[in-house]
Amino acid sequence: MTYPLRVAVVGTGHVGLVTCASMAAIGHTVVGMDNDEEKIAKLQAGGCPFYEPGLKELLAEQTEVGRLSFTNHVADAVRDADVAFICVGTPPRASGEASMVAVEKAGRDIARAATKEMVVVEKSTVPAGTAGRLAQVLNHERPDRPNLEIASNPEFLREGNAVRDSLEPERILVGAHSQWARERMRELYAPQIDKGHKYIETDIATAELAKHACNAFLAMKISFANALAEMSERSGADVMHVAEVMGADPRIGPAFLNAGLGYGGYCFPKDLQAFGRLAGKLGYDFPLLREIERINTEAVAGVFAKVQELLWNLEDKRVCLLGLAFKPGTDDIRFSPALALADLLIQAGAEVIAYDPEAMHAAKAEAPKLQTASDAYDAAEGAHCLVLCTEWDEFKALDFVRIKNEMDYPVVVDGRNALDAQSLLSLGFTYAGVGRGGLDSEAAMPDA
Ligand code: UGA
Repeated sequence: MTYPLRVAVVGTGHVGLVTCASMAAIGHTVVGMDNDEEKIAKLQAGGCPFYEPGLKELLAEQTEVGRLSFTNHVADAVRDADVAFICVGTPPRASGEASMVAVEKAGRDIARAATKEMVVVEKSTVPAGTAGRLAQVLNHERPDRPNLEIASNPEFLREGNAVRDSLEPERILVGAHSQWARERMRELYAPQIDKGHKYIETDIATAELAKHACNAFLAMKISFANALAEMSERSGADVMHVAEVMGADPRIGPAFLNAGLGYGGYCFPKDLQAFGRLAGKLGYDFPLLREIERINTEAVAGVFAKVQELLWNLEDKRVCLLGLAFKPGTDDIRFSPALALADLLIQAGAEVIAYDPEAMHAAKAEAPKLQTASDAYDAAEGAHCLVLCTEWDEFKALDFVRIKNEMDYPVVVDGRNALDAQSLLSLGFTYAGVGRGGLDSEAAMPDA
């Protein structure tokens, strides 16, 4: 077997599509497969089903040079493939456990369609132990099968930075059992290994567990910062400076210590729950995971309480939300703290008008009660309070003199500590950040 390889990617969601694009970009011949006919038609026509900086262009480039194509049929993708990635969704069940229905089906479909020996790679985030289950599925489907081996190759990309994370990875993690599977995975990643990207080989269970461990640890840093924000407010400290001091210690590091509305998206909330369920199944009580989630839920409740404290009664008040995506750089609103806050405000009787540079379409479908505006100034018109929920750069660069003129009360709640508090205070805004003890304005309703 020699580089380049033939690669099948089953599932063209965020991880799947980025995998398609980056595998093609490093020289392999890739076929992306999805059951969703509309999505595949869009991809075949040169479109991209979601917003991810640089992805549409990379997909178009790789399609044009003939390294990338899309299909609705597993057999078309898997035929002659050397490696098949499973990138299907693992949505949460009501219990918090991740549903493996699509993973099992993908395994079965791949086994049936396989024409030659192949590595079947778990790319979707799955609980430790999934590879064993998948192996049973492969064996059951094809007792006479060509050699199909499983490898775990968790994805560490961040939405909004996915193309770069995938082309220039901080680390590539591959869990495999046999020497043959290890070698094939090394061939797959040869261009990146040659460029010096860190390549870590483990057994399969370790790779599966490590992925959950990374996300849980990052979520823990965020919740730690949010707990510190509470302590800072109560003690008159500024959590941003506390985080700065902590982050200067290389053993701690500055990343993921930003206090605010907390984490959202389709990874941390879902993975934390799934990790907790896995711990329970393994007979280990891991209450720290529950605490991380509790603090995260309270982060939204805390910002809601600030708005309520500042505006007194929320009935008949108009609240402008800037940002709906779960973070900047994406149109993804899944488990977005902004939507959770909007929900609390609407339930309390406030009228909520929101604007996001990329997520309006998705938000309108998800939250029909939410009113939307055409830009930030439009959203601020007549508002009694403006809440920054997602720290898009364009919000940091707003003309706040104009915003103040648009608003009924000049009240800003900075749910991401991303605005220039001093300049807002000097413009006459009432300002409340998260955990900024000495800085927040008096918690009182301003004069009308
Ligand atoms: C996360 C991980 O960062 C990736 O490494 C991982 O591959 C991915 O999940 C996954 O499992 O697929 P992502 O969900 O794209 O990536 O977003 P992050 O950049 O991690 O942000 C997650 C949430 O945490 C966002 O809502 C963000 O606003 C929030 N956050 C982040 C904070 O509240 N404070 C911080 O200091 C950092």
